[in-house]
Amino acid sequence: MKLVLHVWRQPARDAAGRFERFEVDGVSGDMSFLEMLDLLNERLISAGQAPVAFDSDCREGICGACGFVINGDAHGPLPGATVCQLHMRSFHDGQELWLEPWRSRAFPVLRDLIVDRDALDRIIASGGYVSVSTGSAPEANSVSVAKADADRAMDAAACIGCGACAAACPNGSAALFTAAKIAHLGLLPQGQPERGSRAVAMVKQADREGFGGCSNIGECEAACPKSIPAGLIARMNRDFLIGGRRRT
Ligand code: SF4
Ligand code: FES
Repeated sequence: MKLVLHVWRQPARDAAGRFERFEVDGVSGDMSFLEMLDLLNERLISAGQAPVAFDSDCREGICGACGFVINGDAHGPLPGATVCQLHMRSFHDGQELWLEPWRSRAFPVLRDLIVDRDALDRIIASGGYVSVSTGSAPEANSVSVAKADADRAMDAAACIGCGACAAACPNGSAALFTAAKIAHLGLLPQGQPERGSRAVAMVKQADREGFGGCSNIGECEAACPKSIPAGLIARMNRDFLIGGRRRT
């Protein structure tokens, strides 16, 4: 099939950007979206032109590197999938696609479809861990975890830090990401001692990074490729209040 792509081209962080039009033919429905871009880039490089810059690593939906916006949808039209898991059979011959990087104040564009997502790493660094004494590993069964809690913690840990939630949110809020990172630790017994202080530190860091506040719009949950539930944001707010009370 043949597609018409309008791709955001921006050579550097502070440079002006614009959409550039490409026609890509010979696209198979079995190609992933990134393989289709690989095809375009091979042709651009052969013609002596600059390839479209986009991020990717695992190409199997687990690293969070590949996100961008396709026709207004973060990660494209397929629910519960990252761009690298999206196949061209989701589109039709002759379709026009508009590709843009995440649009969020906290995610500056580095080049074309690549944004700087270091702000998410700094939120994790501010408290997304369990402090432990060094030494030998504890006996694995010394702290029992209820199956239901283990399952919910594992579901929250499915967050891959892609940033789609913040990019899709009209407030530019990273609440869903932050809530997932808080919940996957706070649901476990090992995460209890720092549960409140962790939430306070991580929410404050999200504010410092320039992410907006949550006003329960729900775009984050709809855009999330890992189906992280927005209900975790309520849990984060509760943990934040616990942390605030302990500090006063
Ligand atoms: S909550 Fe979902 S959309 Fe947000 S960073 Fe995690 S995986 Fe991506
Ligand atoms: S390249 Fe890793 S999630 Fe898409």
